[in-house]
Amino acid sequence: MPAVSTVNLTAPLLLLLLWATHPTMATNWLSLARLPRSRPMSGPAPCARLRGLTPGQVGVCRARGETMESVRKAAEMVIEECQHQFRNRRWNCSTTPRGINVFGRVMNQGTREAAFVHALSSAAVAVAVTRACTRGELERCGCDRKVRGVSPEGFQWSGCSDNLSYGVAFSQTFVDEPERAKGLSAGRPLMNLHNNEAGRKAILHNMQVECKCHGVSGSCELRTCWKVMPPFRRVGVVLKERFDGATEVRLTRIGSRTALLPRDPQVKPPAARDLVYLAPSPDFCHLDPDNGIPGTAGRRCNGTSRLAPDGCELVCCGPGYRAGRAEVVQRCSCKFSWCCSVRCQQCKNTVTIHTCRV
Ligand SMILES: *[C@@H]1O[C@H](CO)[C@@H](O)[C@H](O)[C@H]1NC(C)=O
Ligand SMILES: *[C@@H]1O[C@H](CO)[C@@H](O)[C@H](O)[C@H]1NC(C)=O
Ligand SMILES: *[C@@H]1O[C@H](CO)[C@@H](O)[C@H](O)[C@H]1NC(C)=O
Repeated sequence: MPAVSTVNLTAPLLLLLLWATHPTMATNWLSLARLPRSRPMSGPAPCARLRGLTPGQVGVCRARGETMESVRKAAEMVIEECQHQFRNRRWNCSTTPRGINVFGRVMNQGTREAAFVHALSSAAVAVAVTRACTRGELERCGCDRKVRGVSPEGFQWSGCSDNLSYGVAFSQTFVDEPERAKGLSAGRPLMNLHNNEAGRKAILHNMQVECKCHGVSGSCELRTCWKVMPPFRRVGVVLKERFDGATEVRLTRIGSRTALLPRDPQVKPPAARDLVYLAPSPDFCHLDPDNGIPGTAGRRCNGTSRLAPDGCELVCCGPGYRAGRAEVVQRCSCKFSWCCSVRCQQCKNTVTIHTCRV
């Protein structure tokens, strides 16, 4: 019996300690990408043990366990897409070595970068869950077979369209939960919610149409079409453009309520699809492990696009870069050979590469 009471006493204490050393952040669920793929994601015990979820998100996990595999997939999509979109920038979306705060404390400062990650995250959850719906993997949703009739362009709607309503509603429930839990009168939760919604809008505004031809020997007498979500790369590109045009806002009281309005009164109020941020970003030049910033020492940069975001001056924070020679292997002297292949030789070329000084 004494052993049992010890456990009962220390467990809450331990939790409290963890709570104090890891302040929860709305993006901590992204750490699900760090779990081994074989780990079960749902059921009462697994849900409670998923570090990085807020208590409300643990509740969502318990109630809608079947969607959690899609949430894990979404976390992987976010990290991959963010690193792709920012591969040439000073902040390259690098991850911390371990722990639940995947992108480091820079996510907790109300910056443009945090705005981007929030938007990308809420979009990723909506996309991953909708894909699972369309594939028939979830009990509560499926694809949309009600898009019917003949379109003005003369094709017939038919087949299995992506039905976004379940995935978008799930994203609102799961990704927005930490903000709603904090209350909606403070700046940060309002900023995060706005950007989460902007992320979902990036899917809704970029839906695509896919078609199939039916007819004798490939003719297109009858064309049937259905709606699909954009590829996630497209969502990343759209949100990166919104990142570049993001609006700096501040919490403003209007009568009895508060809203985020542009800091500069000349700027027009942000639309629902725009990204907003509250605080300027650090310069990301120097190594700052406490905030998860690797700095740019040793980074490859582009020596010819001087003032573009990937140019050396910008990436290396000034003239501190050097040119070096590197050998690359390329295909060359390619010849068509009958029939039907292309044979190439391997050529070694020496090219100039630029890197930021250490
Ligand atoms: C789309 O999904 C929602 C929520 O699951 C459902 O209520 C709705 O009927 C679906 N729409 C179609 C056209 O299948
Ligand atoms: C980001 O840059 C740092 C420092 O230049 C480098 O060590 C890291 O590998 C880069 N990360 C990614 C994901 O490109
Ligand atoms: C550098 O930038 C130029 C101009 O923007 C571009 O044409 C070139 O491909 C870039 N080089 C590398 C190595 O990315």
